[in-house]
Formats: sequence, C-alpha cells, structure tokens
Amino acid sequence: QLRKVVFSGIQPTGVPHLGNYLGALRQWVRLQEEAAPDTTLLFSIVDLHAITIKQHPADLQQWRREMLASLLAVGLDPARCVVFAQSSVRQHAELMWILSCGASMGYLGRMTQWKSKLQLPDSALPLASSKDQLKLGLFSYPVLQAADILLYNTTHVPVGEDQAQHLEFTRELATGFNHLYGPLLTVPETQLSAAKRVMSLAEPTKKMSKSDPKPKSRILITDSRETIHSKLRSALTDSIEGVSYDREARPGVSNLVDLIHHFDQAGAASPEELAQDLKGLSMRALKEKAADSVDKSIKPIRERYEELMSGDQKKLISHAESGARKAEAMAESTMQRIRNAMGI
Ligand code: ADP
Ligand code: NA
Repeated sequence: QLRKVVFSGIQPTGVPHLGNYLGALRQWVRLQEEAAPDTTLLFSIVDLHAITIKQHPADLQQWRREMLASLLAVGLDPARCVVFAQSSVRQHAELMWILSCGASMGYLGRMTQWKSKLQLPDSALPLASSKDQLKLGLFSYPVLQAADILLYNTTHVPVGEDQAQHLEFTRELATGFNHLYGPLLTVPETQLSAAKRVMSLAEPTKKMSKSDPKPKSRILITDSRETIHSKLRSALTDSIEGVSYDREARPGVSNLVDLIHHFDQAGAASPEELAQDLKGLSMRALKEKAADSVDKSIKPIRERYEELMSGDQKKLISHAESGARKAEAMAESTMQRIRNAMGI
C-alpha cells in the first residue's frame, strides 16, 4: 500500500469565486481534515500555468499573494499541508522538458481544452493574433501539469471533470516513462470532485467563471455582505411561481437552491428536498435566503482574508516560502532518481 500523496493546483488569477471554492478549495480543506497522519498534501499556486495567457508582472505578483491569502483563509493549514508557488520549485520546468520528449503531439492535439482554443475567433486567442501564432506553452501545458503531479509521487489528484482528460494523459506519460527507464514514477489516480458546477448568476446555463466579463455573474469569497446581497438580488431566475428544483428547466432557481444546499450543512439532505421546503417562497425571498446563507458561511473566510492581506506581508509570504522548501526537497529527490536513470 502506497503512502497517500495528494496534489492539486490553482492558477493565481484573482480572488476565488464560489465555483472555485465549492468545486475545488472546500474539497481540499476536507481532504486536509480527513487526512491520515502519513498523508502528504500539496497545494500549488500554479503561476507557470497562468502565463499561458497575458499577465502583467505586477498583477501576477499581487494575484499570487491574493491566492495564497485565499488558500489560508478557506482553512488550509501550512502546518498540515504544503502550500507553495509552482515557479519557486524549478524542478517543475525541468521535469516538464523531460516528459515533453515522450509526449505525443497527436494526443496533445486531441485535448478538448486545446481544441476549444482552436474554435475561438482570432480576436479572442490568448497571446496570438491568428491560429498560426498560438503558443507552444498553451499547447503543451498538460505536460507541465503532468510534471506538477509526477514530481511528488502523487497518488491522488482531486480535480474537476474538465481535467479528467489531462489526468489520463499524465497517467500515460508516467507509464511510458516507466516502460523506458524503470518504475520510477507513480501513476496517479484521478479523484473527481463530487460538487455540481456552480452556475453564473447572470446566465445560469453557463458555469460561474472568472473569465465572464459581467462581474455580477459571480460571487467572490471576499465579497461583503452588501455585495453578496446585491449580486444575488440581480441573479437571473424565471417567472414561474414558487420554488422547485430542475437544473434543466429552471437553471437560475436551481442554482440558488444548490447554493443554499451547499452552505447549509445541517439542512435538507438533497437540493430536491430543500426546494420542496422552500416551495412557497417568492423569487425575492429565495434570493434573500441564498444571500444570507452565502454570507453567513463565507464571513469567516472574508474576515480571515482581510486579516492576512492587511497584516504582516512578510509573514504571509513566509508560509509559501517554507512550503516551497518542503516541496523542493521532495521534487529534487524525485529528479535525482530520474536523472540517474536517464544518464543525465
Ligand atoms: P475559472 O473557470 O473561473 O477560470 P478555473 O478554471 O481556474 O476557474 O478553475 C479552478 C478550479 O475551480 C478548478 O478545480 C475548477 O474545476 C473549479 N471550478 C471553476 N469554476 C467552477 C464552477 N463554476 N463550478 C464548480 N467548480 C468550478
Ligand atoms: Na478557466
């Protein structure tokens, strides 16, 4: 039985929204709470992934710090897990190169995320003015993701469904490497997040996303009580009377029911039951209830975040620095075995 090692990453692209929180970060905190004493948990702020789109250096620095404060604010404890910035552990880039020598262009070209970039109008392409100008880093970033995971002999990778294909690619790279050089790399398991997608408040048939230009489409984990209420008050619902749960027919209303259900730990067993309990509410009252329940749950996160961002910044950053030293020691030990096996 392998010792459990969990790795997951998040890009430093602004303060997380409720989708990021419910779909990823809250699961990370739960893994931390449930971890056996010999489990290693690594959570990385993946800034090398973030530069596949245009980033201003000052923003990137600021966003890295905001993400660090967010991770600590939601409850990750640097004494129990390794929280670090990807760019501060050079071995990620080194292993990426080695793995890229065994990565098939055909396989990478079939990745859904890459193909979706090819569907974009030229004006919306990242760092490129035409398809021909698309950058290698964007094409090969699943290889960097594989390096992130394989460096730590990761056994479990908690991710959203959209990442399952990249994880399968990681497994294939590890198997291919082991076939050539011996059984050095651990082939990781994908741990799909059970949380349903949190939908946009403005357009509830689309997922809540930071890339949505409408700021009212998403709630950030640092939003004030007033902001939460105002965003939810303008959430798109429908003109059917009363509350019922149907993600297809009533996406807006169901999204609000889901939010209440996610945050109301002691309440109804399922969103369907919750909707039944709430069926007499007007849309306005449902929105108020959703706002109250979101606000109540994320208030401690917001307060902790403000404390961290207004407190001693050296101390905040020192959490990531000590995380980086721990991660680097693990990564370097893997790299030494890899370099030896390959004769480099
Ligand atoms: P975004 O879509 O805002 O750019 P990312 O792609 O950076 O978010 O996702 C970071 C993490 O948050 C991933 O694990 C992803 O699965 C999760 N996530 C993002 N948006 C949602 C959502 N609307 N519902 C559930 N999980 C989400
Ligand atoms: Na995204």
